[in-house]
Amino acid sequence: MGDAERFRLLVGAVRDYAIYMLDPGGHVVSWNAGAERFKGYKAEEVIGRHFSLFYTPEDQERRIPEFALDTAKVSGKFETEGWRVRKDGSRFWAHVVIDPIIDPEGNLVGFAKITRDLTERREAQDKLEKAKEALFQSQKMEAIGRFTGGVAHDFNNLLAVVLGGLELVQRRVGNDDHQAHRLLDNIRQAAQRGVNLTQRMLAFARRQELKPELIDVCAQIRGMADILDRSLGPDMTLVTRLSRQPVTVLVDPTQLEMAALNLAVNARDAMPAGGTVAIEVDIETLDDSNDHSLNAGRYAVLAVIDHGTGMDEETARQAIEPFFSTKGIGKGTGLGLSMVHGLAEQSGGRFVLSSTLGKGTTATLLLPLQSAVITEELERSAMEALPSPALNLLAVDDDALVLMNTAAMLEEAGHSVTTAYSGQEALKVIGQSKPFDALITDQGMPNMTGQQLIERVWTLFPKMPVVLATGYAETPPGLGPDVIRLSKPFLQAQLLEAVRSATVNAIRPRQ
Ligand SMILES: Nc1ncnc2c1ncn2[C@@H]1O[C@H](COP(=O)(O)OP(=O)(O)OP(=O)(O)O)[C@@H](O)[C@H]1O
Ligand SMILES: [Mg+2]
Repeated sequence: MGDAERFRLLVGAVRDYAIYMLDPGGHVVSWNAGAERFKGYKAEEVIGRHFSLFYTPEDQERRIPEFALDTAKVSGKFETEGWRVRKDGSRFWAHVVIDPIIDPEGNLVGFAKITRDLTERREAQDKLEKAKEALFQSQKMEAIGRFTGGVAHDFNNLLAVVLGGLELVQRRVGNDDHQAHRLLDNIRQAAQRGVNLTQRMLAFARRQELKPELIDVCAQIRGMADILDRSLGPDMTLVTRLSRQPVTVLVDPTQLEMAALNLAVNARDAMPAGGTVAIEVDIETLDDSNDHSLNAGRYAVLAVIDHGTGMDEETARQAIEPFFSTKGIGKGTGLGLSMVHGLAEQSGGRFVLSSTLGKGTTATLLLPLQSAVITEELERSAMEALPSPALNLLAVDDDALVLMNTAAMLEEAGHSVTTAYSGQEALKVIGQSKPFDALITDQGMPNMTGQQLIERVWTLFPKMPVVLATGYAETPPGLGPDVIRLSKPFLQAQLLEAVRSATVNAIRPRQ
């Protein structure tokens, strides 16, 4: 066997590389097994044809094949990675090298072309990149959540002081001082707006104090007809398509209403010239391999659909981030979708946005479906309306302002109050003075949490009525129904009501 023959056999047998030759004009003159394997053509189908055949139409249009040959001719080599097309039209990711072949006299006799199929590597890379991106996204959301939650928590405390103080001042200002009352009213409204904002932030951070109830989503939406109509305005048509059967979920009804309203207002804003907003409520069964990484099961689906501006990919990705808004300063807080997302997650569901630029948006809230049977269990017992006697109370909070404010509210109602800035201090005074009728404590305190304090107090005074004030969603574990919970910030009436029900509970025989 001659050298030339041996060489032809060698090249012909290589299966992992497409190795073939082009004439100086770019027509295929030889073909090997590798070329046949990943391009799909047999030698007789392809020899004589121009090699631009393997390029995508976009690349052909941009004259990439000609550019490749010119580059190889001029600089002695062309190397690149890119998409190439197989005979069946499918694409593969190729690593391509083109070398010019020059005869001893220095004439160009053609090109040697070596191609490798890197599709698998490319796909693995893409997958890795996507996974990295998803991880980054979720870490970012978690960080933003922690940050937002922290800020909101502190602001909540400040606002509690502002609102509580205002209430007391308002009472001291003479009834005929209308101007002062107007001013105070303005301040109260501003502070209340602050509370609403912090509530949305806490919702996003999933630290919201939720009061879940069993509700029928359809009934909830029906009950919102008025407020929805008013929020959408006269240029909008509201269409509701509600399931015939009840769609029962365990969710905080006020929050669900806020969520639906936020979505409807977004839909309105996406259609400045008017249009139709559709709200659909239905039941969907998800299996294990659903797109939302939810557990298999039945879900309530609340969808708000518009045919407005839609969002590009980048906007859609950022839309649920807190403070992301395209509506301009003073127009949107960027907390609407954050709140909806947080509510969904905290309620065991998912919020899904799907949007096409120029076509419209469907915002979907998925919540685990509940069977309606357990309703009764969760119904709260009616509250007894007893007048509250003057009590001897112990109030504990590490925040001096909040503590002062709480004490002032209680004293104003005729109770006498001892204050303590920490659990340790509370335990000290509790042993010294005459017995307290009730303990009111903050949950989040350094060294000793409210829950830990309660446990310690109960070992000393097992029947002591307690109120636990908390701005967080997490129910401290192991606290029974004897702990009355109070979400911050609270108004005087709410505080007094909590104290009253704690002390009433204590007197009533326990079931
Ligand atoms: N239905 C929709 N169509 C088009 N874009 C939307 C839609 N819903 C949300 N977006 C985009 O997502 C952004 C964030 O929405 P989000 O509800 O969180 O805040 P916002 O509406 O800007 O402010 P706020 O809710 O406080 O009024 C919006 O600014 C808008 O760019
Ligand atoms: Mg909004």
